Amino acid sequence: MADAIDPALYAKIFEINKPCWQTVSDSLKKLNLPSDAKILDLGAGPAEPTATILAATPTYKITCTDSQEAMIEKGKMRCTKKLGEEVTAEVNFVVALAEDLSAYADDTFDAVIGTYLLMFVDCPKCLAEVKRVLKPSGYALFTIWLQMPFFYMNQAIVNDMWSDFRVKQTADESASGGSAALGVPPKIVVQPMSLSSTQYNTKGDVGVMAREAGFKSAFGITDMAYDWHMNLDLDGLVGVSRILTNGVMPKMAEQLGMEVEALHLEHAARLKKEISEKHADWDRGSEWVWGRGEARLYTLQK
Ligand SMILES: C[S@@+](CC[C@H](N)C(=O)[O-])C[C@H]1O[C@@H](n2cnc3c(N)ncnc32)[C@H](O)[C@@H]1O
Repeated sequence: MADAIDPALYAKIFEINKPCWQTVSDSLKKLNLPSDAKILDLGAGPAEPTATILAATPTYKITCTDSQEAMIEKGKMRCTKKLGEEVTAEVNFVVALAEDLSAYADDTFDAVIGTYLLMFVDCPKCLAEVKRVLKPSGYALFTIWLQMPFFYMNQAIVNDMWSDFRVKQTADESASGGSAALGVPPKIVVQPMSLSSTQYNTKGDVGVMAREAGFKSAFGITDMAYDWHMNLDLDGLVGVSRILTNGVMPKMAEQLGMEVEALHLEHAARLKKEISEKHADWDRGSEWVWGRGEARLYTLQK
């Protein structure tokens, strides 16, 4: 499994994705599934996809899963708060890996959903399992990130810092007769855009992988774009970037022979300058948004 997302942290920031869950819920409605359709929510996190779908169609029978027990516990609490105990009691909450659905027989579900899940899983294995547990002609709905300013801007600043400090370091190394290879900047470990058609793609194309897994080639694509509301001021926005850079700075500090904290401070100063000078439109008065994320919903059919 890829690095786990901290359930406590994720529960604080994840409501950004409301428009995504609503799009998935609306798209399910358009598929005209039976009123008691069996739906599997994979990698549900704190269960908001499940809660959004049930708010629209309380008669669906949903199995809500995640690889982390703590997410499932948060999911139960959130569903109870949002939908009440009666509806929540009908949801089957299960800890499960998206790549191993052996608990479910072939042809079980009318639809399977996975919002912002595929970047964390072994996609071919997961898609093969999803296809197996779907009923004939059943649907799989997956969302991925296409563009995410929160990610690429932080990585770009890491890259710039690397270049600036390495150029100086290699100049010193050359002057003292040592090796002067520039090397490559460390990569932020979380890769939200690992399935997008950008330079950050490391996992391939969902459409191609879906066809390889045996899904029909005619499938729907819905693109979404929405602001990243984090209810933070500019300093808060800059501070929250440490979620991404915490994993990078120790490596960079070691390679550059610098202090971790000094690199964090330098990164924060550059980020603040970049946002305030180039993205004044992210200032919404009561908060600064972390730009506009672009995402894609794939609707696949077995
Ligand atoms: C970015 S979150 C998305 C959560 C939720 N779908 C949403 O839209 O809010 C990804 C979720 O996938 C879960 N996850 C990661 N790897 C997984 C795997 N191999 N199988 C199932 N869930 C996994 C994580 O625990 C996390 O809750």
